Amino acid sequence: MNPSASTHVLVRGQVLHFVADPGPADAPAAWQYFDDGALWISDGHIHAAGPWSDISAALPPGIRHAATLHDHRGHLVLPGFIDCHLHYPQAGVIASFGRQLLDWLNDYTFPAEARFADVREAERSAAFVVDRLLAHGTTTASVFATVHAHSVDAFFNAASAKNLRMLCGKVLMDRNCPENLRDTATSGDRDSRALIERWHGQGRLRYSITPRFAASSTPQQLQLAGELFASRPNLHLQSHLAENPAEIAWVKALFPERRSYLDVYAHYGLTGPRALYAHCIHLDAADRQALAASGTAAAFCPSSNLFLGSGFFDHAASAATGMRVGLATDVGAGTGFSLLRTLGDAYSVSQARAAPLSGLRGFYLATLGGARALYLDEFIGNFTPGREADFVVLDWAATPELAWRMEHTQSLAERLFALMILGDERCVVATHVMGERVFQRTRPGYQPGH
Ligand code: GUN
Ligand code: ZN
Repeated sequence: MNPSASTHVLVRGQVLHFVADPGPADAPAAWQYFDDGALWISDGHIHAAGPWSDISAALPPGIRHAATLHDHRGHLVLPGFIDCHLHYPQAGVIASFGRQLLDWLNDYTFPAEARFADVREAERSAAFVVDRLLAHGTTTASVFATVHAHSVDAFFNAASAKNLRMLCGKVLMDRNCPENLRDTATSGDRDSRALIERWHGQGRLRYSITPRFAASSTPQQLQLAGELFASRPNLHLQSHLAENPAEIAWVKALFPERRSYLDVYAHYGLTGPRALYAHCIHLDAADRQALAASGTAAAFCPSSNLFLGSGFFDHAASAATGMRVGLATDVGAGTGFSLLRTLGDAYSVSQARAAPLSGLRGFYLATLGGARALYLDEFIGNFTPGREADFVVLDWAATPELAWRMEHTQSLAERLFALMILGDERCVVATHVMGERVFQRTRPGYQPGH
C-alpha cells in the first residue's frame, strides 16, 4: 500500500503501555514509558510507539505534513480502558440503597430491566451508556443487555455508530425471575442465534452468550448455552460466579450433584477460552486452578463488591495461578463508569486481602489485563504495531489535590499510584477510537494559583 494514501495521526505525550503483567514485584520489562513520547497511527492502527524524537525523525516529510497532530505534552497517553463487565440497562439504578445481591436484584434491577420491554428505553439507555463510557476513557466493554433481544440491537447499534470494539449479549434466564423477564430454553437459544447471525463479527463487535447466573437458568438452558458456545469459533460467554454467600448456597441447593458453583458451569461446557465470570470471590484453590487451567477469565469488580457487601476478590491469589483477570465496574451494582475510581476500590480490596495492588499493576489490569481476559489482546490493550488505536489521554493534575500530590512524587510508579487513588473522570482529557477523537474535555483543566 502507498503509505501517503493512508490517514495518519500523530499523538505527542507521556506514552505508557504494558506488554505483560508486571506481577507483584512491578517487573520493569512489563511496560514501556516514553516521557516525551509519540504514537504514529496509520488508518486507525498503531504504526509505531516510541520517543517523539525517534518517531518524528522516521516520518517521511509528506506524511508529517499531512498527519493530524494531537499535542498532549504533559498528559498521560494510555490504551483505552477496558471494562470487563457491566450491565448497560442498570445505569438508571446505580446508587440504589439496599441490602445484598438477591434483594437488590429483586428490588431494583429486575424492575429496571423490565422497562426495556420498551425499545425506546433500550435505545435511550444505550446512547447514554456509550456516551458516558467514552467520557470515562473506556473504549471496550463486555456488556449484559436484558432478556429482550432488541436490547442487544440497541446497544450494538449505539456502539457501531462510534466504531467501538464491544461485546454484548441477550440475558438468558428461564427460571427464578419475574415472569415478564423470563425466556424459555428454546426461545433464549433461538433469539441468541438470531442475534449472533445479525451482529457477531460485524465490524468490531462480537457476541457474548449471556446466561445471567446458574440460579436463573434451568439445566436445559445451560446445556443449550454450552452447545451454542461450542458451535462457532470466537463466540464469547459471560456470566456471574461466586459473588455472595446466599447466592452460592442457593446454587448449591439447585445443583446438589456438582462439586462447586464453578463445576456447574464446567459441567455444561460454559468454561474455557473466551468465557468470563464476574466476581469469582468465594472460590477455593481447586476452583481457581480450574479457572486458570481452562483459560476461563475473571472480572474483578471491586466497587460493586464493596457496594453490595459481597466480599473481597483475592486478586493476588487468582493472578498467581495464571488466571486471566480484568477489571470491571459491574454497573449498576458498581457505583459509576470510572475505571480510575474502580482502581482506587481495587486497591482497598487488595489491602483487605493483605496484598496491596500497585499503581503499575492497576493500570495493567485496566488495559492489557482486560484485553487478555476478553481474548481481544490481538486487537487492543497496548500500543504494539498493528493494534487498533484506541487510547485515552489523562491529566495527572486535574484537581488541586492531584496537582499538589504530583508535585511530591519522584517516580512513574508513585505517580500512577496517586492517579489510581485520587483520579476520576475529571482526569480524562480526550478519548480516541481507531485514532479518531470521540470525546474531548470541555472544562479547562485545573490551573494552579499558588
Ligand atoms: N448476579 C446475577 N445477576 C446479577 C446482576 O445483575 N448484578 C450482579 N452484581 N450480580 C448478579
Ligand atoms: Zn454483573
